[in-house]
Amino acid sequence: MDQVIDQSKKAGTATAWVKQLGPHAGAEIHGLDTGKPIGEGERKLVHDALMEHGVIVFRNQDITREQQADFAANFGELTVHPFSPHLDDLPEMIVLDNDGDNPPLSTDVWHSDEMFRLEPPLGTLLRAKIVPRVGGDTLFCSMTAAFEGLSDGLRSFLSGLEAINDFKNFKRLYGNSQEHRQRLWEMMDKFPNPVHPVIRTHPVTGKQAIYVSPQFTVAIKGMKQDESDALLDLLYRQTQIPEYQFRVHWQENLMAFWDNRTVQHYAARDYLPDRRRMERITLRGDLPYGPAGKSYSILDPDKARTDPILENYQAAGESRTTP
Ligand SMILES: [Fe+2]
Repeated sequence: MDQVIDQSKKAGTATAWVKQLGPHAGAEIHGLDTGKPIGEGERKLVHDALMEHGVIVFRNQDITREQQADFAANFGELTVHPFSPHLDDLPEMIVLDNDGDNPPLSTDVWHSDEMFRLEPPLGTLLRAKIVPRVGGDTLFCSMTAAFEGLSDGLRSFLSGLEAINDFKNFKRLYGNSQEHRQRLWEMMDKFPNPVHPVIRTHPVTGKQAIYVSPQFTVAIKGMKQDESDALLDLLYRQTQIPEYQFRVHWQENLMAFWDNRTVQHYAARDYLPDRRRMERITLRGDLPYGPAGKSYSILDPDKARTDPILENYQAAGESRTTP
């Protein structure tokens, strides 16, 4: 009983408390029903745990989709994904329902969600509804730990760099018909390539993290292609270091909430043909910034339609402002 009292004092609420699960990322929130309205003490407990641990999990959350959306709204504005199918009556909710006949679209690639946006989402809440017999885990990597694990010299060098990003993975959704090409061009106009700082400063914690990913990053701006490829490969390999990782083994009604500014994730594609159904809500984010400055868009969409080669990105003009 004494232990419970101590934990509630620490948590700032009557019943909810936090247990750290991983050294660099991962914690579990106990004693919180996310299906009910939460008070400021509980909201702060969850927010602070997210800031400290990058990804937090809640078990046994047998709630409705609307309740998941309402809980998410405590932490930011909900957004609608421009490419993923979503529900007509709750467009902020993405249902990821995959099996052998409908495999996932390359989610087994390390990424921070929606880096093709100029202002990528700050966080994502994903809840499991149907879990496979085995497999289907999601791996997370602390990009803060990955950055801090590099040498002083490399960290200093990286801090001046920017990277061009693209929704390249989603371009596969479009065919070669005139209608599809037109729709793709409209999306390219809507989401012109953002240039994000390679090292991103977290707006709340002030910590710095690697902010390039094989899912969305095209090149380091201003580098020769072989230099860019080699440097990006080195950075991508940081996510594969087990000490920086935290792994979520899904159970029905387990909900994970992660901070896209701190962690990247990878959904293991090792469960097919079993079914895995997940429900996702995403929170609007802020304009990234880092030692190299704020994010910005440079690409002329007309050039992208006809000749989207690296040199076009490299030759694009400067329009960056410093934070
Ligand atoms: Fe994702």
